[in-house]
Amino acid sequence: MPFSDNIIEDSSNNYFHNGYFLGSSFLSEKSTLESRELFSILFDTYKQKLQQTQSFPRLQIDWLTNQKDLSVIINLLYSKKIIQALNSFSERYGSKVYVLPPFEIMKNYSNDRIKSGGIGWHRDADGELSDPITIELLQDPQFVLGKLGIYFQENNIFPGGIDVIPESQYLNKANSSLLKRLIPISKLRLLQKFHDLYPNLYVKINEKKYMKFINAKKISNNSGDFVLFDSRIFHRGSIGSEEVLKDVEFIDEHLCVLPEEKTKYVLYGLIASEIGLKAYIHDQHKRKEKGFDSTLEALNNCLELEPYGGSVNKHFDEAKELLSKHL
Ligand SMILES: [Fe+2]
Repeated sequence: MPFSDNIIEDSSNNYFHNGYFLGSSFLSEKSTLESRELFSILFDTYKQKLQQTQSFPRLQIDWLTNQKDLSVIINLLYSKKIIQALNSFSERYGSKVYVLPPFEIMKNYSNDRIKSGGIGWHRDADGELSDPITIELLQDPQFVLGKLGIYFQENNIFPGGIDVIPESQYLNKANSSLLKRLIPISKLRLLQKFHDLYPNLYVKINEKKYMKFINAKKISNNSGDFVLFDSRIFHRGSIGSEEVLKDVEFIDEHLCVLPEEKTKYVLYGLIASEIGLKAYIHDQHKRKEKGFDSTLEALNNCLELEPYGGSVNKHFDEAKELLSKHL
């Protein structure tokens, strides 16, 4: 489907109401294939670092030393269609919405149905939703905090891609009454409890049926599409269909092995208004103090990145300026 101006305008409406927006493909097939080739080389180049630093299949862009590769990736993140979509956010929320670091490429991120805690369902903004300072920030009408994901393949029957629970961004203490959030969230919690207690029984449940039970939706993106989703919505890596799962090996709770041509790559960045970024940074400092993983180091490293070429440097420079103000 061609990317019309109407769709761009709809982006902030969809994001506001449903908690996510799926943007139709803005990449040519050639560009998608070239990106996949580059990602494959990068995962190979940084194999050791990936093993040392984390179990997640997540490659940080601030590790990159090759300026040309860096430039290609920054150009993807700040592509015209994405900036256009975010401009409509800026108008709706009355505050400029930026593409911001951390930038990372995820490879074959999914969920082992037995080993993944909570069957993979989580909120990125869990920390922001439980701290009095950030709860106050997210009451602000100018609060925007979410993720940008660019997908380099369709979300097919293989694991990877993203599932969401639409509208769950409002089902939290800061936004809704106890009664309103009780039923949908309780259903998910019930299912997660069942999974914790009886993982071997859980895997016998038909995924499609239970997705309906918790009002969840698999985002059926095409190759080259992008998704903007609110950090408060419940989401997880798509599981894959029952028939392919029989033959898929998981080497970690979130990492499966797929043949190269079926491998799923997603390029992620943060999207935020200034208020949203403040909340995010506050949470990252808190995480660091508590000894949890924090992205503060990656954010600082990103301030040093100087990609060249393309027309994106203006947007990236603005993002870096905002970031340096709040770090
Ligand atoms: Fe997430």
